[in-house]
Amino acid sequence: MRMRRAWIIGCLVLAVSICGCSKQQQEEPENTLLYEDEIEDSEDYIVVGFAQVGSESDWRLANTQSFLDTFKEEHGYYLLFEDGQQKQENQIKAIRNFILQEVDYIILDPIVETGWDAVLQEAKAAGIPVILSDRLVEVEDESLYTCWVGSDFEEEGRIAGRWLKDYLEDEGRSKEEIRIVTLQGTLDSSAQLGRTKGFSDILEEQSNWNMLERMSGDFTLTKGREVMEYFLNTYEDIDVVICENDNMAFGAIEAIKDAGKTCGPDGDMILISFDAAQAAIEAMQRGELNVDVECNPLLGPMVEEIIQKLERGEEVNRIQYVEEQCFDALMDLDAIMGTRTY
Ligand code: AHR
Repeated sequence: MRMRRAWIIGCLVLAVSICGCSKQQQEEPENTLLYEDEIEDSEDYIVVGFAQVGSESDWRLANTQSFLDTFKEEHGYYLLFEDGQQKQENQIKAIRNFILQEVDYIILDPIVETGWDAVLQEAKAAGIPVILSDRLVEVEDESLYTCWVGSDFEEEGRIAGRWLKDYLEDEGRSKEEIRIVTLQGTLDSSAQLGRTKGFSDILEEQSNWNMLERMSGDFTLTKGREVMEYFLNTYEDIDVVICENDNMAFGAIEAIKDAGKTCGPDGDMILISFDAAQAAIEAMQRGELNVDVECNPLLGPMVEEIIQKLERGEEVNRIQYVEEQCFDALMDLDAIMGTRTY
């Protein structure tokens, strides 16, 4: 039997309005403070605090929606959702609030890997299990979190590298110098570290590949566009553009078009992206993108399964990868679009 939580009656509930912002419209999320006084028997709910990164990308919006759809009151949960607006200090504050409110579980999607030891110690001292979702943390004491669910980011990077190698071979370009630029995600985030490392593993084996420069576009369309503009102004010949997520790819496509150049299978540059959001598959259908390595945002149900196991006192896997695929412009993209839910 769950402890009755008097605090929940009249407590502050953060409700986030998920603006349908995608490549066309990237707005700051609207966090609204509501007084919730209608929650009756809180003892019937599993109370979960979710410290999300922000709303920087299509992927992130789909990921948030997956949690909102899963942790609903009719499923027996009471979700406290906090949008960190891409700032670690906001996420740390959120975790401290969750601890004060004596939630049953904390779900953390950490914006970066470092800097979590102190606040996770506090959660441990309060006896609240922390489940990491999407990105990982680097902490001295691994017992500070219960488990992690997310993508194999390094493998995603290697898939992109292997795809490029095969593509260049098919195009008869395996001997020529290949000049590459990379738009990296938020520095020190697991998605950035993994994709950069995975692609580098393949790059190091290719003596004709030349990585001209890597620069962070923070996983956003606006910064992706700025970084691509800088690359186009700095390097005369670019053969390959790697974008460590779709929204930066959308920004890069805009910058490339503005510069009077083209990208995609018939374009001046090969464009590689990660996430495979619907808008990116559409870009591939328009011939603007060559390949997209999927990053699956639908992590809510996997985290719920973990919580259910913990509730039953069962063991959970420390690391759990989500299933992912890779899509390229030669596939039947119309059929693929019909299967996409994000
Ligand atoms: O951590 C997952 C990454 O974060 C996704 O690739 C990106 O779109 C998001 O912002």
